[in-house]
Amino acid sequence: MAKPVLNFICQSCGAAYSKWSGRCDACGQWNTIHEEKLLSQGPGAKALKTRGRAVPLSDLSSKEPPPPRTASGMAELDRVLGGGLVPASAILVGGDPGIGKSTLLLQAAASFANAGLKVIYVSGEEASAQVRLRAQRLGLEQAAVKLAAETALRDILTTLDEERPDLVIVDSIQTMWADTVDSAPGSVGQVRAAAHELTRFAKTRGAAVVMVGHVTKDGQIAGPRVVEHMVDTVLYFEGERGHQFRILRSVKNRFGPADEIGVFEMTGAGLAQVANPSALFLSERGSPAPGSAVFAGIEGTRPVLIEFQALVAPAPAGQARRSVVGWDGGRLAMILAVLESRCGIPFAGLDVYLNVAGGMKISEPAADLAVAAALLSAREDAALPAETVVFGEISLSGALRPVGQMENRLKEAGKLGFSSAILPRGGKAGDAGGLALQPMGDLTTFVGDVFGA
Ligand code: TYD
Ligand code: MG
Repeated sequence: MAKPVLNFICQSCGAAYSKWSGRCDACGQWNTIHEEKLLSQGPGAKALKTRGRAVPLSDLSSKEPPPPRTASGMAELDRVLGGGLVPASAILVGGDPGIGKSTLLLQAAASFANAGLKVIYVSGEEASAQVRLRAQRLGLEQAAVKLAAETALRDILTTLDEERPDLVIVDSIQTMWADTVDSAPGSVGQVRAAAHELTRFAKTRGAAVVMVGHVTKDGQIAGPRVVEHMVDTVLYFEGERGHQFRILRSVKNRFGPADEIGVFEMTGAGLAQVANPSALFLSERGSPAPGSAVFAGIEGTRPVLIEFQALVAPAPAGQARRSVVGWDGGRLAMILAVLESRCGIPFAGLDVYLNVAGGMKISEPAADLAVAAALLSAREDAALPAETVVFGEISLSGALRPVGQMENRLKEAGKLGFSSAILPRGGKAGDAGGLALQPMGDLTTFVGDVFGA
């Protein structure tokens, strides 16, 4: 029996049907099912034979130059982009509302304009006068950036077709409205359609398009996740409110390394670049205190020293709390379990709080040992040896595993005045940056050597 052709797709949940109906059985939405003709059935089906031709990989010329990039001159931004802006690329910049996306992109727009690009800043959220006011506050009112306050996608694309910019910034994708889609701005359908049109504009006209996306917790408007797969580069702008540090992190980049970070500091006159993040992250640190451990980490291609802070306190009867900021809660539970079952140090009946100083988020497993050190130091109420950095991955057996880029970590610590390092045995430390090394094979040795337990 021939398979039924499932051409009718629900635009809300993606369920496929063989015939049209008014209501989607899968998600219960009305009027969301539309017919989607397969390309092989459409009028241009024959074109496939000539235009979509496959060629052997070996036939592709290896002499093709890498795409020319334009650097903005903002070194922190250029590094995260992988060296600069690539033409015909689509970039998503996501982040919480109020974190500073518009400020960052207005500064970036001015820098790229100074670097010779023709830049258009499309604001769907603020009127031109407001953007101009912001530019004044940032001291950028003379920048050669064109402004458009518009939300109708069709009008925007017409303008862009006439103006032929090199860089378009769309702030934000959730305010854009495509008249071909029958739902409100900010809905999944609208966000997807707008991102698709803008990405296509980037590819066909050779412009770079930056889209701003608000991250939403309540789901009222569609988050940037729905466009992540369409674009070439995904950057997130992060930071804790109340902290002055902001981190631009690349989570996907077709034209450069992922996981690269750029560090900025918020000031009254906009974002200032931070060339030496370690010094800034450690600047709030006082004399060695119980519960504090300095981790020598790697973010992207760069070593960064960061302080972990832990607090362990008797829990009121009943549930003990585990609270983490800047680190994975599951990983904390794992380290507590290893400390308990391999080293015989129980945390039951104790509240545990763990915090990464400065509002950084750490995801490297290499931070395990620094977390364990901070927890033990808090529990024993004993400070770690002064001027010491800690790193290493902890396995479930309690063994310490070597981690990558040991030499870079040690050199950075040496540069910032640290004199010793506690690290896993094995691995290539190379030139240790003048630090005294204390290599250890497992967590039990660490507990014994450092805390005498
Ligand atoms: P804004 O760029 O509007 O955030 P978003 O576009 O992500 O919603 O910034 C929020 C507020 O913070 C705004 O009132 C300006 C202020 N701000 C500064 O004063 N200095 C700075 O360096 C930044 C980034 C923001
Ligand atoms: Mg904004």
